[in-house]
Amino acid sequence: MMEAAILDAVNGGKLAQLAGLSARYADPAFSVAHGGHVRTIAAGHYTVAGLSKHVRLGEFVAHRSATGIHLGEVVRVEPDIIYVCPIEPGEPIGIGDTVIRKGAFRVAPDNSWCGRTINSLGEPIDGKGPVGRGLHPRSIANTAPPSMTRSRVEKGFRTGVRAIDIFSPLCLGQRLGIFAGSGVGKSTLLSMLARADSFDKVVIALVGERGREVREFIEDTLGEHMSKSIAVVATSDESPMLRKMAPLVAITIAEHFRDQGDNVLFIADSVTRFAHAIREVAVAAGEPPIARGYPASVFTELPRLLERAGPGVEGTGTITAIISILVDGDNHNDPIADSTRGILDGHIVLERSLAEEGRYPPINPLSSISRLARKAWTEDQEKLVSRLKSLVHRYEETRDLRLIGGYRAGSDPDLDMAIKQVPVIYEVLKQTPGEKPALDAYADLANALRAAAGQGNPQSAIARR
Ligand SMILES: Nc1ncnc2c1ncn2[C@@H]1O[C@H](COP(=O)(O)OP(=O)(O)O)[C@@H](O)[C@H]1O
Ligand SMILES: [Mg+2]
Repeated sequence: MMEAAILDAVNGGKLAQLAGLSARYADPAFSVAHGGHVRTIAAGHYTVAGLSKHVRLGEFVAHRSATGIHLGEVVRVEPDIIYVCPIEPGEPIGIGDTVIRKGAFRVAPDNSWCGRTINSLGEPIDGKGPVGRGLHPRSIANTAPPSMTRSRVEKGFRTGVRAIDIFSPLCLGQRLGIFAGSGVGKSTLLSMLARADSFDKVVIALVGERGREVREFIEDTLGEHMSKSIAVVATSDESPMLRKMAPLVAITIAEHFRDQGDNVLFIADSVTRFAHAIREVAVAAGEPPIARGYPASVFTELPRLLERAGPGVEGTGTITAIISILVDGDNHNDPIADSTRGILDGHIVLERSLAEEGRYPPINPLSSISRLARKAWTEDQEKLVSRLKSLVHRYEETRDLRLIGGYRAGSDPDLDMAIKQVPVIYEVLKQTPGEKPALDAYADLANALRAAAGQGNPQSAIARR
């Protein structure tokens, strides 16, 4: 088997491929494979006898059938048998079939992957031919660099989305969540953020999306940025294993580029669907649910994934993560929303009521926070934003009172100011995905406020004449 592969590589003149192979076979895990036999078969999993002492939880095994070699993940290990969740359900499998240990699932990212769309197995799905194999395969179950060796997060960057750049500016290496119900605007906002110009690479994991949305996201919204982007896609009709692997494969690719010194943007839409996939796999393996049907492994996998984003060790690049979280029925205490909020360095809250008013992106500037905003703002900007927030707060808290005519202009100068300026601020924050990213959100805001003040002020109108 190995010789045949070497011969193939030499005949094809593919030296790089040969080097890859030799590196792979130098790993003892590949030269000796432990094997076992299928004991029982159920809907979401099968069990294997004879491998318990040789595999660890989360490793992969391979099963050979008439239709080829099929991978599965070890989801439970007992003294005599292991439970395996196959990547592709429905593969023909029989009692007694041979199953061998494969070890960690690895992908070998390569710079030539830029501009491509792949599936969770690292195979191209964009019809543009095969993808190259990098020289250094990486396990998708990699762990984050030790926290004390990581560089610090302190360099702000411009996203081009005014509502974020003004109220919750971000830093390279930050981890941000976008929280909203379905259809409120998460994916659209993510696609706008994917065009931020501060990144060398963009790696996008699309999990559990409808196939149509995936094409829209990749073809329409990325546009010219596609050449520095890689999308890893597992649509809603794919197996839970593939949906669970997509963000892991994507973050592994992001790590490859980060270690080359790139500033990488990692986008995952949505992390809730990733959690659902983990739940499906865990339930098939018989793991008991602990919170709203979610098993404990969901709450260890989520931090493990998000912790891998962030700055790299000194001298490498950064991974900035922006992920979306579905809040079902606007229940912000959903266990997934709750547990991710604690791991992130900021959250953007989208409100259905704002979307209904046509205020897109429907970001609530008062409940959205960036924990690293201080590092991105200048001192003046920070003061300005705190003033703007108090105006918005004043405007919103008196909305009902003003609607019923309970306020007379002139009795509270602060409120008068809010009534004049907040609608202008709201107008500046509106942005569609078709618009060009904002180069200077503060200047846009200042210009709009100045123009509005000019219009409302007869003196300046006279002065202009
Ligand atoms: N910035 C925006 N400008 C205009 N329309 C928007 C904007 N964001 C979202 N929408 C509208 O809202 C719809 C749903 O948005 P989407 O991003 O798919 O929501 P979600 O991912 O939260 O389910 C879009 O099809 C679009 O019509
Ligand atoms: Mg969406």
